[in-house]
Amino acid sequence: MALAEFTPVGINFTLTPEHEDIRRAARDFAGTEIAKVAAHFDETGEFPYDTIKKMGALGFMGLEVPEEYGGAVLDTVAYVLAMEEVSKVDASHGTIMSVNNSLVCHGLLNFGTEAQKLNYLVPIASGKKIGAYSLTEPMSGSDAGNMKSRAVRNGDHYVINGRKSWVTSAPVADFIILFTMTAPEKKHKGITAFIIETDKPGFSRGKTEPKLGIRASATSEIVFDNYEVSAENRLGEEGEGFKIAMTVLDAGRIGIASQALGIAEAAYEASLSYMQEREAFGQKIGQFQGLQFKIADMKTRIEASRLLIYQAALAKERSKKTGERYTTESSMAKLFASETAMFCAHQAVQIHGGMGYSKELPVERYFRDAKITEIYEGTSEIQRMVIARNELGLR
Ligand code: CAA
Repeated sequence: MALAEFTPVGINFTLTPEHEDIRRAARDFAGTEIAKVAAHFDETGEFPYDTIKKMGALGFMGLEVPEEYGGAVLDTVAYVLAMEEVSKVDASHGTIMSVNNSLVCHGLLNFGTEAQKLNYLVPIASGKKIGAYSLTEPMSGSDAGNMKSRAVRNGDHYVINGRKSWVTSAPVADFIILFTMTAPEKKHKGITAFIIETDKPGFSRGKTEPKLGIRASATSEIVFDNYEVSAENRLGEEGEGFKIAMTVLDAGRIGIASQALGIAEAAYEASLSYMQEREAFGQKIGQFQGLQFKIADMKTRIEASRLLIYQAALAKERSKKTGERYTTESSMAKLFASETAMFCAHQAVQIHGGMGYSKELPVERYFRDAKITEIYEGTSEIQRMVIARNELGLR
């Protein structure tokens, strides 16, 4: 699919027929398959294996990956459209899809050897296996370079010890891209990335996080106890891990921005319908100017988010040819869209009153799910820091 067909020139955001097709396919799948199970998996916190497997079979788990590596051969615009549609129905499915696509597939595609792509990217992009990305540790979240886990080289392999936390999909992942220290004295330049197989001795899962939202997306600690990984499973060179982690997060943040857009739209559309139906003081509540202003603010922020996301998606597409970074575009999209999701979900609960607070409607789920988009893959504070540093030339 040629990028040139989707062009912002002349401010014409008309989507190509292929983009319309993927959007429709994602919307149909989410409407028929995910909508009916979303509340159940939110309540139980179980992992939605069946729907994720079906999404894999349809190509949603490796949308931008070339055919020879098991992917759907689409572009970033297609990815953001699909993420938005899936997340609009259920943000948990969006999280699982986003991590698999933009953290794991993107990392393996851009930094993996041919053998690594064949062994790991193919099963993950085709949805047969599930991938995860592990950067955070109990004592290093935003300060990602300050990690305590270690990998020590021993001949043709490395021995890994330590504990990582907040790993999305860890409870179900077959393979994990792990960032750990091989040379602590070099600080972030001493971080190295590895591809971890989770069925090997020395690997175990720690506590599962009891989360406020995106409850169907499984999250846990992972623990390494003298885990041996072959040097062939090192992703990139020794010391390149931090740059790989950051580069991959640039892609990941576009996915989270699209997830946030989906949540915001769901909250907005529920509010619109409710305001057109619900009556108070002898009229539809949509007649009240105080609530109309909420609709205006929600809609404006949603459309502004969409533009920032499309801008970031196009910058990432350009980067495939030029290698140019799109860090600022990605951070701006994530920052604005996640704050929009939280704003819209907050307004939606208020507009619905008691019904917004009830589990009988999905509005309270949008509110709980929206919050994570301001936290994971870099908090809003980190996004502001990244944008400002880049603007000031402080990188
Ligand atoms: N692309 C490429 N290189 C980058 C980069 C990027 N986007 N950002 C930084 N770098 C490079 C810098 O150029 C620098 O390289 P040199 O040493 O060669 O000059 C190096 O990395 C260090 O950069 P900084 O000095 O800026 O590093 P820092 O320690 O000040 O941290 C930070 C920068 C932006 C705060 C970073 O630590 C960060 O993004 N923190 C947030 C981490 C995060 O998002 N965590 C979430 C993890 S995933 C998750 O949420 C769970 C999940 O499963 C989804």
